[in-house]
Amino acid sequence: MSPTTSEVLAFARAVHVLAVLHWIGGVGFVTLVVLGGREPAEAILARFLAVERRFAPQARIAVLLAGGSGLWLVQGLDLGWRFAEPGFWWMHAMVVVWLLFALALFLAEPLFLHAWFERLAARAPVRALALVRGFHRLLLAASLLTVAGTVAAVHG
Ligand code: HEM
Repeated sequence: MSPTTSEVLAFARAVHVLAVLHWIGGVGFVTLVVLGGREPAEAILARFLAVERRFAPQARIAVLLAGGSGLWLVQGLDLGWRFAEPGFWWMHAMVVVWLLFALALFLAEPLFLHAWFERLAARAPVRALALVRGFHRLLLAASLLTVAGTVAAVHG
């Protein structure tokens, strides 16, 4: 027996939520645990760079899976019209958050961001730590707001 359309879309939704869970959960862990603490900036940065090196490839896969399954849901549930409605701000928020991470992970980081940040971390560790903490907090806040808004709208 072949699966029905709604079973296929339930699978896409499960993939979407698992990918978002893994990726945003990782961002939360890096922001609140890896980048936290009162040790010298050099020690926190060394820990951050080591963790990031291992997590970035996993985050890239999760971002691809979340984006692919998200498009699959838009297509399958015929939800494209929502992007013209301001009340569906959480649909726009998902795409904006996705784009920010995709640009960072697939373009900026490999092209220049990683090399630039390692140089800054060596030259001015306190400034580098403040910068990377600020960016991670901002991205985590935007991601959590998006998750909360989306789940409230879909199930509210
Ligand atoms: C290109 C990027 C994305 C697209 C096209 C997309 C699309 C969608 C669609 C169509 C749904 C189903 C909505 C409904 O059932 O009415 C959905 C659900 C959801 N998305 Fe996304 N999404 C994307 C990225 C993201 C990101 C980055 C996050 C997290 C920050 C996210 C979190 C969620 C959550 C939590 C749900 C709710 C699942 C549920 O409770 O049923 N999505 N997404």
